[in-house]
Amino acid sequence: MNAAIRAVTRAAIFEGWRVWGVYRGWEGLIMGDIKEFNSASVSNTIQRGGTILKTARSEEFRTPEGRAKAYENIKKFGIDALVVIGGNGSLAGAQALASEYDVPVIGLPGTIDNDLYGTDSTIGYDTALNTIMECVDKIRDTANSHDRIFFVEVMGRDAGFLTQNSAIAAGAEAAIIPEDRTDIDQLASFIGRGIRKSKNSSIVLVSEKDGGAMHYAERVRLEYPQYNVKVSILGHLQRGGSPTAFDRILASRLGVASIEALKEGQRNIMVGIKNDQIVYVPISRAIKMDKPIDKELINVLSILSI
Ligand code: F6P
Repeated sequence: MNAAIRAVTRAAIFEGWRVWGVYRGWEGLIMGDIKEFNSASVSNTIQRGGTILKTARSEEFRTPEGRAKAYENIKKFGIDALVVIGGNGSLAGAQALASEYDVPVIGLPGTIDNDLYGTDSTIGYDTALNTIMECVDKIRDTANSHDRIFFVEVMGRDAGFLTQNSAIAAGAEAAIIPEDRTDIDQLASFIGRGIRKSKNSSIVLVSEKDGGAMHYAERVRLEYPQYNVKVSILGHLQRGGSPTAFDRILASRLGVASIEALKEGQRNIMVGIKNDQIVYVPISRAIKMDKPIDKELINVLSILSI
């Protein structure tokens, strides 16, 4: 996210525009927690995790009164356009504001969940994916040495992109994801493949939704007591750390493109990336349309886990 803030700031200053940093997202816009940024404000930030602007979830912004207060500050600070970096919630806020007030809004996809429609990747997703892969590599040492089945819980809210792809990257035996609920019982099919017959340990990655790893571990303990089962919940360590080169480059490109979009007179769009090309997606589509998981990924994992 810092790489995106840096890119937006510097690309705007490059155009001769003034830049204001809004702290704590919509909450800060309501409170007037806003400071002018110059090029040095974003120095030494590209390698840092988290966000220098801080972030918050704002209940007040969900109300028309909250958005009216935010608009007051937009006028007070002489802000002509907003670049909003965030996931579904942030972009839904952008959409609500833009439908009520005449302010151009450009969205940048910033979430580890990768669940925004119209972009192949979101800012932060690749970093989280790499973190999960490294954690699973380490967990594998215990799984292997002690002959255990590990259920590793992965973030992603309602989406299974992190789970499915980190399972492939870490060589896990299975991924249990919300998008594959058509498979009546993913656990039974995993056990049914006789995983312990051919291997002395296994790792299953489980999306956090609907009880996550605990739920499946409990089931195995009850239904298959012969297995030695452990749970590992990766939690917020998935959301921190220095970003990967891929994420830094993506954030830099999207940030610069957001200023290009404003120059072109675009409004209420999210800037995304498709087949390595910058694309504009209406924010309404980015947040409402379902982004499916490619069935090929499910197939790859299942073939490679025999
Ligand atoms: O949307 C990003 C995300 O990290 C999800 O993957 C996760 O479900 C959620 O945020 C966690 O939010 P919080 O930090 O508020 O518990």
